[in-house]
Amino acid sequence: MSAAAVTVTDDATRPGYKTDVEALVFDFGSESFRVGYARDELPRVNVPSWVGVSRDGVPDTGPLERGAGRANRITGAASSAAKYYVDVTTLCVPRPDTEVYSCMKDGLIENWDLFEQILDYCYSKCLLMNSDLHPVLFSESPLNTRSKREALIELMFEKYNVPAIYFCKNVVLAAYSSGRSSAIVLDSGATHTTAVAIHNGYVLPNTLVSTPFGGDFITKQCSQFLANSNIQIIPYYMIRSKQRVQDKEQPIWTCKNVLPKVSYSWHNYMCRSVVQDFQQSVLKVLEIPNDERITNFPQPNYEFPNGYNQTFGNERFKIPELLFNPHQKMGGATVSIGQIIISSLGKCDKDLRPYLCNNIVVTGGNSLIQGFPERLNYDVSVLAPANTKLKVIAPSSSTKRRFAAWHGGSILGSVDVFHDKWISRQEYNIQGRSLVDKLRYL
Ligand SMILES: Nc1ncnc2c1ncn2[C@@H]1O[C@H](COP(=O)(O)OP(=O)(O)OP(=O)(O)O)[C@@H](O)[C@H]1O
Ligand SMILES: [Mg+2]
Repeated sequence: MSAAAVTVTDDATRPGYKTDVEALVFDFGSESFRVGYARDELPRVNVPSWVGVSRDGVPDTGPLERGAGRANRITGAASSAAKYYVDVTTLCVPRPDTEVYSCMKDGLIENWDLFEQILDYCYSKCLLMNSDLHPVLFSESPLNTRSKREALIELMFEKYNVPAIYFCKNVVLAAYSSGRSSAIVLDSGATHTTAVAIHNGYVLPNTLVSTPFGGDFITKQCSQFLANSNIQIIPYYMIRSKQRVQDKEQPIWTCKNVLPKVSYSWHNYMCRSVVQDFQQSVLKVLEIPNDERITNFPQPNYEFPNGYNQTFGNERFKIPELLFNPHQKMGGATVSIGQIIISSLGKCDKDLRPYLCNNIVVTGGNSLIQGFPERLNYDVSVLAPANTKLKVIAPSSSTKRRFAAWHGGSILGSVDVFHDKWISRQEYNIQGRSLVDKLRYL
């Protein structure tokens, strides 16, 4: 990536920012941060939103508002020894007294201290470049607040000295990724599943319908299922050796002799990644509910880190079925994924509905469960009025589907006419955080 001369518009009051340098696109979610250069097909970096923190440094685990200051939270001489472990290669090394925290909550930035650690890591260890060279385009949740956006603008201009910044809703970017500026976007990520209508590149906020059932819910259900089936989750870091055993036989493995006394949160994080691997490898959604052919479907054998392995039959369909066929015991809103779409469509202008029905864009990691788009297509066709023309658009490439918002940002960031929309550093120097008003219609 060349760092060619930056040509900023010389009149500071003139909006926009022009440069020969590619923009950086940031798409952050509760599970991971995706970062890369505009015009690329895929992000260069996909870092977990979870950070390991040595216990000395961060005594308080509550939300940290930007501006509250790290000094307010870290007290005493030992605090200066705070250490952060970002990304899997360091985060997954067992260490004593290291807790794991997420910097996100429900898709919004919650702990700015940890958020900065991830940004520092992306710039200095992954992208290997100075942050003052590249304009930055951030995706944001449709539920993002004005104060969080202001805080991010301040952080990026004052700490990272970026030349220009812009924000776009992640669902709009996901629609762009499929070549559409109008669509219903169904985003099933880690913490929630939402459906919302996009019209000519703008979110129609009153059409947003959300449930708290996404990938994290499925991970919890898998953990419960494995516990009820007496399948013990032993994370890789504990295992010194294992032997091959037959299906459902007691595992034969040995534990590492020397292990540091790890924290409960870190151990849980490692168990969670084992369960997530099970979730991603084994689960499948029935393409048609109550499909009688279920017994003829392939039954995969899955091996856990300690060598225990089992063939999973009908069980693999039961857990994700909860997304499409929820029951009261789940708590929260018990609407199915198909109903979310229908309900979002119902909140749209009547004239728009036929077009939107024909443009249902599916994105988010949880939508990668096998059979998800096919089942969604079936359920929506049953719930929609008769003779409605439906089209579910879900890229077959798993990375394209999961990173659709990032990819849409990559497209938007590379469009020349878009450069008029950037907020430049000069504008920020004159107007400060109030510049957020310029973005109020997004
Ligand atoms: N191949 C897969 N099969 C099933 N689930 C998957 C697969 N890959 C990822 N997931 C799940 O998708 C979720 C992460 O999705 P995604 O990356 O869209 O979330 P996010 O954008 O970081 O979070 P959020 O949208 O909640 O803020 C996790 O729960 C993960 O277990
Ligand atoms: Mg997301």
